[in-house]
Amino acid sequence: MTLIDSDPDTGLAPLEFTVNRNLQAKSAAEREQILANPGFGTSFTDHMVDICWSVGGGWHRPRVQPYGPLTLDPAAAVLHYGQEIFEGIKAYRHADGSIHTFRPDQNGRRLQRSARRLALPELPVSYFIQSLRELIAVDAAWVPSGDDQSLYLRPFMFAKEAFLGVRPAHKVGYYVIASPAGAYFKGGVQPVSIWLSEDYARAGKGGTGAAKTGGNYAASLLPQSEAYENECDQVVFLDQDRNVEELGGMNVVFVYKDGTIVTPQSDSILEGITRDSILQLAADRGHKVEGRAVSFDEWRQGVASGDIVEVFACGTAAVVTPIGVLKGKDFLDEQPTGSLALSLREELTDIQYGRREDKHNWLVRLDG
Ligand code: PLP
Ligand code: COI
Repeated sequence: MTLIDSDPDTGLAPLEFTVNRNLQAKSAAEREQILANPGFGTSFTDHMVDICWSVGGGWHRPRVQPYGPLTLDPAAAVLHYGQEIFEGIKAYRHADGSIHTFRPDQNGRRLQRSARRLALPELPVSYFIQSLRELIAVDAAWVPSGDDQSLYLRPFMFAKEAFLGVRPAHKVGYYVIASPAGAYFKGGVQPVSIWLSEDYARAGKGGTGAAKTGGNYAASLLPQSEAYENECDQVVFLDQDRNVEELGGMNVVFVYKDGTIVTPQSDSILEGITRDSILQLAADRGHKVEGRAVSFDEWRQGVASGDIVEVFACGTAAVVTPIGVLKGKDFLDEQPTGSLALSLREELTDIQYGRREDKHNWLVRLDG
């Protein structure tokens, strides 16, 4: 796997944000009650970032404003043609109270790649990182300090021009909202069960699979419901050649008995930053790591023969979660679980929470 490189637009002057404080911000007591048991994606902080873009004006009117509903023209292009992209990144509180995020340059660059594919404007990476800092500057108290807790940041961008012609919109909004987060799966790091989607694909060759765009997730909802009906936690997608792609919201990683770590790689899979980081940590330990096509048969046969000794899912929301069961219409394969997934998870989270040396300089401080 090639490791992705660093911020291309250092030197750009920062934006000058206007900050409108939320006069109806939650009280400290209300906030603490939410932070005691945040769940995932259900509560939001007091503020949000809002930056406009237009063909003539570029990026303008950068604001931090009270969290609240957006006013949209019913003809806004996003509502009709789905021109939208987003990111997911977390802010972690360290034991000394400071707040850090993890490899934000990579999320910023991925947002640019997604923008290119969806014909949206590319937000400079330095503006992306600044937008996270501006939100943390007013909502720092929302970064929880409990075990495995974080503030999940959700930057997103969409076409807001009122126009029904099918072409890239001339007016776009970029926003960042934030949501305190605990474990993504109810069971924490217990192994999850995966349903094989046989009737539905998530992405196709030349499609939008590698972009983080709402339509990919919309396409995953029906097969995800099928997974729930079959008592599985998540759904796995194959491509047209029956190679393994990824889960609805996570990448997949296989561990082989000789210690090699393999993750499916193709133009239609989202390039996960958690996956990239886990593979780097494994390579640092001396594991051979490979990004290549993995056929579904290789997965099943590898598990049956004992060549594959662990399978796990990874992503920002779910961190690293072992896969315990793979289920399809006419089979159920127990998956081998070992200790590598959890040990890599521990190493990664130790870095993110400042408990271990950050040898790759992945952390970026967001407060102060
Ligand atoms: N694949 C999909 C479809 C995702 O939504 C995510 C989550 O963002 C990932 C993979 C993992 O990406 P990352 O590790 O950058 O969060
Ligand atoms: C993330 O991990 O950031 C994602 O976007 C995945 C989503 C299913 C919450």
